[in-house]
Formats: sequence, C-alpha cells, structure tokens
Amino acid sequence: MRSGAVAERRSARTTAQPRNPVTTPHRPIAVFDSGVGGLSVLRHIRTQLPQERLIYLADQANVPYGSRSLAEIRAFSEAITHFLLNLGAKLIVVACNTASGAALTHLRQTFPDVPFVGMEPAVKPAAAQTKRGKVGVLATAGTFKSQRYEALMARFAQGVQVFENSCQGLVDLIESGQTDTPATEQLLRACVAPMLNEGVDTLVLGCTHYPFIRPLLAQIAGPAVAIIDPAPAVARQTKRRLQQHNLLARSDSPGSVTALTTGNADQLARFAERVLDFPLTVTTAVWRNNQLFTAQ
Ligand code: DGL
Repeated sequence: MRSGAVAERRSARTTAQPRNPVTTPHRPIAVFDSGVGGLSVLRHIRTQLPQERLIYLADQANVPYGSRSLAEIRAFSEAITHFLLNLGAKLIVVACNTASGAALTHLRQTFPDVPFVGMEPAVKPAAAQTKRGKVGVLATAGTFKSQRYEALMARFAQGVQVFENSCQGLVDLIESGQTDTPATEQLLRACVAPMLNEGVDTLVLGCTHYPFIRPLLAQIAGPAVAIIDPAPAVARQTKRRLQQHNLLARSDSPGSVTALTTGNADQLARFAERVLDFPLTVTTAVWRNNQLFTAQ
C-alpha cells in the first residue's frame, strides 16, 4: 500500500463503526504482525493455550512496518483490528513491537471494550539482569522513535547504558526466509559488533522477527551474552487477560490455528512449516480502499 494512502484510509474509517466486543469464549484469539515475525509469538501462545482457536494475520503487502510513519502504521493497525473483529476475535495480540509502539494506545482508545495484548522491547528485565549495566536493544527504527519506547526507557533504563541498533534490512532478509545465510550473518555482525565492543552482556530482541535469527546471534555474541525474547511473557499475559475477562476456551480438545496474509500464502506457509511444530493453513486477505477483506 502506498504511503500517500493514509489520509484516505483515515476518512474511510469514519464510515465503519467499531464492532461491539465479542465476549463468548469459543471465539478465536487473533494475532497480527507486518509479516512472519508474529509467528515467534504465536508458537508460544499455542503452547500456553492449546485449546484456543488462533487466527494469525500477516500484513506482508506492507512489510516492513519499521521504516513507515507512525500515522501509517496506526492506520494499518486500526483497519486490521476491524477485520479481525469481523472474524470474531475475542482478544487481539499485537505481535509486533513497531505496531504496538505506533498504535496500541490508539487501538485501546478506539476499541475500548476489546482486550489487547501488546509488545515492547524487554528493557525492564534486561536492566534488571545485566551485570555490567550495559544492554543492547535490537528493534526497528519505528519502535525507537515511538513515545512508548521513550516512556519505557525513562521508566526502566535509569542507571543502565542502552545501545540501540535498528539493523536496517534485517527484517527483509528474514521475510525472504534468510535466517542463516552469509548475507544475514554479515548484516547482523555489523549491527551488534559496536554494542559488543562496548561490553553489553544482555541483548534484547525488540522485534518479533528476530527470534528467528537467535541461533545466529548467539553464535556471534557468544555464551557470555544473554538474549531476551519477550514472546513467552506475552503468551502468559495473553492467558492472564483471557482469565480476567472470563474468556478462556471451555474445551479439552486442541483449537485450530489458521492464518491469512495480504502477501503470498505459499511463502508464509513455507516459512511457518520451518518454525512451527503445528500445521498452519494459510489463505489470503486483500486491501481494498484501505480496508481488509478475505479474498474470494
Ligand atoms: N515484527 C515487527 C516488530 O516486532 C516489525 C518488523 C517490520 O515490519 O519492520 O517490530
């Protein structure tokens, strides 16, 4: 979708009213991201909540979000939320640090009755566990420029030196399936070498795409450097929110997991096969007049 479409998208929103929240437990949990990244969260939600029906939405027509404006990401996130509520979502996990930074507050204001679970770089646990007081954060440019990140730093990073890198191009490589190629290794080394030279002992995976390059990162950083992935905590938070809202599935059998992409369904299915230990059926969704629809 072109960046010039934001104003048009916003006016389109005024005609579509947010639906009432869905309060019946058999409805699905919806999880979304710009691309494959949120699968790193989905797999932990599946482990934590095997009885739940899960729907995953990858906005691969618009990936990467990280280099887009906050207003644009907000508009995508709002349209995606409308779409997921129309599919019956009872809770929405924004499995994307960039979209959470740009849009979570806006989504909670726009859909006050819908439970949302968002993401943020795990600066708090990193600051608590670093021994040298030096932490490295890998996240997108969009995440770093968000107010949410600013607030996070002001609150939890006092007395700790934080080194940031937006690893330009890394999300695209991961999207194309290159999680362990020489090109990915070269780019990742260039991102983390300056912070490793500064002596960081803790690295934060502040983008949901990055758990897929964790083995490569661990190899580059060495065993003395801890790597924090917030996905298991997000899955636990999802369970807590369902409990609070009395929305846990009341079934003993495993729930289905399906996915939609605004990009190429075969490509997403192939990636999912590599990183998930459960089957994922992928269909297509399409953007039309700044709104999302299932493909006919
Ligand atoms: N996976 C996303 C995140 O957690 C965004 C990647 C992108 O689209 O730039 O930030």
